[in-house]
Amino acid sequence: MSPTPVKVAVTGAAGQIGYSLLFRIASGALLGPDTPVELRLLEITPALKSLEGVVMELDDCAFPTLAKVEIGDDAEKVFDGVNHALLVGARPRGPGMERGDLLEANGGIFAPQGKALNKVAADDVHITVTGNPANTNALIAMSNAPDIPTSQFSALTRLDHNRAISQLAAKLGVPVTEIKKMTIWGNHSATQYPDLFHAEVSGKNAAETVGDQAWLADTFIPTVAKRGAAIIEARGASSAASAASATIDHARTWVEGTAEGDWVSMAVRSDGSYGVEEGLISSFPVTVKDGQWSIVQGLDIDEFSRGKIDASVAELAEERDAVKGLGLI
Ligand code: NAD
Ligand code: LMR
Repeated sequence: MSPTPVKVAVTGAAGQIGYSLLFRIASGALLGPDTPVELRLLEITPALKSLEGVVMELDDCAFPTLAKVEIGDDAEKVFDGVNHALLVGARPRGPGMERGDLLEANGGIFAPQGKALNKVAADDVHITVTGNPANTNALIAMSNAPDIPTSQFSALTRLDHNRAISQLAAKLGVPVTEIKKMTIWGNHSATQYPDLFHAEVSGKNAAETVGDQAWLADTFIPTVAKRGAAIIEARGASSAASAASATIDHARTWVEGTAEGDWVSMAVRSDGSYGVEEGLISSFPVTVKDGQWSIVQGLDIDEFSRGKIDASVAELAEERDAVKGLGLI
């Protein structure tokens, strides 16, 4: 095992996603069995006692890869020297709430956290925002961290990506491993666009294999886009284990890279690709190599897809304007 632990910060560590995420990271699911991990856990003061209980449980697992755990309510202390920052802590959406309602409540969390990361994180820090509204929270953190390259910020759309793979596999009766090149475009919200026109099933075009435009437009897209709300409706709480699993998938791909002949969905700063306004944190198909993501180029976007992408990007621009108006960026 390498002697120097990799420092992984998790915010909102006493929350429901944290309860699933921490044990996966500590057991090596993020960095593998040969890399020791030091967990840095940030919470608000009233949640620290509950977090202490979670740390007791982490101790009780005797994970060989868990070198150390530090907890606290001071972002500058917790983020000191961190190599990965998983920003989960935020207020989850309740029944009937839309993500836009959460902008003001959550925006205030991510400006100070961006500033703290800017001041004390390791130079190579990789930042993943899971807390909603994830894309715009990432934009806020990024805008408050001028010394960290913008390519080191991202937001999670891997859960949507995984949901899209799962729905398509179920429709076609194939294993999820047969599905490649899935793409989520835009915002992690009900406007997101899960794209089957560039996805592949057993090497063949997914939209053609499905051969049912009505299913694609009226069932597949809304099922994936509204899955978060369906889970809230069913559980009375937002998705947690699947969100933690997707957060691990996202951060692990960022470390390990994408497989040959495949890509993943990540929300990253737009460089203007595919007509997405530069500077917005929008989901794209990306490949990853040596810890650097690149937006897949050259995909043909037809009129149907154009309309869907534009609608989601328009929502991101509205969110950006709202947080600008609040002085958060
Ligand atoms: P939760 O309420 O169970 O936990 C959130 C935790 O964050 C709480 O323990 C709270 O004390 C903590 N917190 C609040 N402000 C904080 C701050 N300033 N610093 C540190 N910690 C802070 O919520 P959850 O179910 O774990 O969900 C967390 C977030 O993830 C929510 O915003 C939820 O909507 C979002 N989410 C995103 C996705 C996605 O795919 N991007 C999926 C599911 C959930
Ligand atoms: C999810 O996709 O499950 C979460 O983002 C919950 C939500 O607020 O929709």
